[in-house]
Amino acid sequence: MHLKPNADNTIILKSAYEIGIMREGGKVVAAVVHELERRAEPGMTTRDLDAIAAQMFADAGAESTALGYFGYPGSICVSVNEEVVHGIPGLKRIKRGDLVKCDVAAKYRGYVADTTHAFVVGGPEATTEEVRSLMIVSRDALMKGIEQARPGNRLTDIGAAIEDHVRANGMSVVRDFVGHGVGRSMHEAPQVYHYGPGGRGPVLRAGMCMAIEPQVNLGSAQVRMLEDGWTAVTVDGKLSCHWEHTVAITANGPEILTLPASTNGASYSAASQQPARSY
Ligand code: MF3
Ligand code: CO
Ligand code: CO
Repeated sequence: MHLKPNADNTIILKSAYEIGIMREGGKVVAAVVHELERRAEPGMTTRDLDAIAAQMFADAGAESTALGYFGYPGSICVSVNEEVVHGIPGLKRIKRGDLVKCDVAAKYRGYVADTTHAFVVGGPEATTEEVRSLMIVSRDALMKGIEQARPGNRLTDIGAAIEDHVRANGMSVVRDFVGHGVGRSMHEAPQVYHYGPGGRGPVLRAGMCMAIEPQVNLGSAQVRMLEDGWTAVTVDGKLSCHWEHTVAITANGPEILTLPASTNGASYSAASQQPARSY
């Protein structure tokens, strides 16, 4: 989400019951993004991807929280290559080798789950080593941030871990957007920065639920908005990658809520919940 200067600071804690509902909604949005990767083919439009997601929401009894959000016209966001976030589904055709990021957020039984999944059209072999590296570094950065989402840590420990990993790999973290608390609303307090310094902000507690969603660029961190008022692109035209998970902070540590049903595990360790990835 966009950085907001005057966000309400109240962090709403969720009960185990509420987290249980969010876990179910998390499986719905996770299924959507994985289905989009599976069905994406060269020549499809980003609107075709949006239609697949909309149908899956309807089938699952979920409702897009993007559609109508400040007038947003799509059911999901699809950002391709140098597009960083909030690409509006339309007549753009995806082609072999494109880096596609699908950001899918939906309300299910009154609670929101929000996830972003990146893939290359045609699979990893359809792109370059550099882009595969961007995908892996950004994915690992998200996981390192999630590992910090545990009781007793401070809020900015999440972003510090993300930024450290990205910088160590010679890439940059976009600073114009933040992750966010998530619950009955898609965007709740706190704003979750994807950069350091760590050791600041509220102490994390069990029951907090957050969407953590770093955008990582191969070149400069600078972004600009397109005329459509939504799509953010890199200023240098280099590629950007984005991954997002909705995470519940539990007494045992972070639990990723936006994993597909097949990866359901007993452990709360983020590392052990990382689904097999092809990049
Ligand atoms: N899911 C996005 C996020 O991660 C928000 C999408 S709202 C939209 O916060 F209007 F841009 F679609
Ligand atoms: Co999102
Ligand atoms: Co989000």
